[in-house]
Amino acid sequence: MTDSSGVAFVDGRFCPVEEARIPVLDLAVTKGDSTYDVVHVWQGRFFRLDDHLDRFEASMKALRLDPGLDRRRIEDVLHECVSRAGLRDAYVSMTCTRGRQTVPGSRDLRTTRNGFYAYAVPFVWIATPERQERGVSLWISSRPRIAPESVDPAVKNYHWLDIQMAQFEAYDHGAELVVLRDMAGGITEGAGYNVFAYVDDRWLTPGSGVLRGITRQTVLELLADDRVEEGHLSEEALLRAEEVLVTSTAGGVMPVTEVNGRPVGSGLPGPRTRRLRESYWARHADERWTTPVRYR
Ligand SMILES: Cc1ncc(COP(=O)(O)O)c(C=O)c1O
Repeated sequence: MTDSSGVAFVDGRFCPVEEARIPVLDLAVTKGDSTYDVVHVWQGRFFRLDDHLDRFEASMKALRLDPGLDRRRIEDVLHECVSRAGLRDAYVSMTCTRGRQTVPGSRDLRTTRNGFYAYAVPFVWIATPERQERGVSLWISSRPRIAPESVDPAVKNYHWLDIQMAQFEAYDHGAELVVLRDMAGGITEGAGYNVFAYVDDRWLTPGSGVLRGITRQTVLELLADDRVEEGHLSEEALLRAEEVLVTSTAGGVMPVTEVNGRPVGSGLPGPRTRRLRESYWARHADERWTTPVRYR
């Protein structure tokens, strides 16, 4: 079976992604109780697969979830989803759900059986390469990000109603992407991406209240010889930054050329952002950062 629209692994079996289903009684559906991770495949190679599996394991541990498969088996499943789909460039997602009650009618979380599913679909771009050439527009939402003390953003989750509603606010203002502030007004992150701003002669990215993005980590490493800081990014600093970019597994290093309707710098992707974007994609051919997909 080769299904280029995507292949899923659910309930212990592989199937075309369009046929994959999870039970309506899974607490992932009724309570948003799950964690997930997404890795990508570029030109037949996983990018930083071990880092994604490490983060997935840490997220499951933090939420007291057990997928019922060990790391090697999960890795095999991811390879097989991509291989069966025959995809060279893919978005590969893995999720562990709280699952269903084993005791009918009970609400005791200790008697649930956790679930696991994964799928590979064609590469997903938050902003297409053509769009990235011009840069994307960003809106700073008036809706604060859910407090990290309530839902830890470092544990990758689908608890996204703050982000989703903020994204609608961005559309209402004619912007493509959104970023949310924390309760103290500091910039955090957006719908699947971290944010970097080049301001006051250094790159600055929020140091807390965000997912530790693997793309963010890659950019920090690429900037190791430059001035870069993880810390407080204020709205004011973001609005006067010379360059702004967002980072995600789903699209890489994406230039932002407009914030709240105002041009960033010249209004075109800046030279530092362009260089970073090139170095980021160059790493995808480097064996130190990639794992070849085991195609059958
Ligand atoms: C809320 C949030 N922030 C940041 C990111 C970027 O993380 P990564 O670079 O690991 O894809 C994601 C990825 O989905 C995310 O969901």
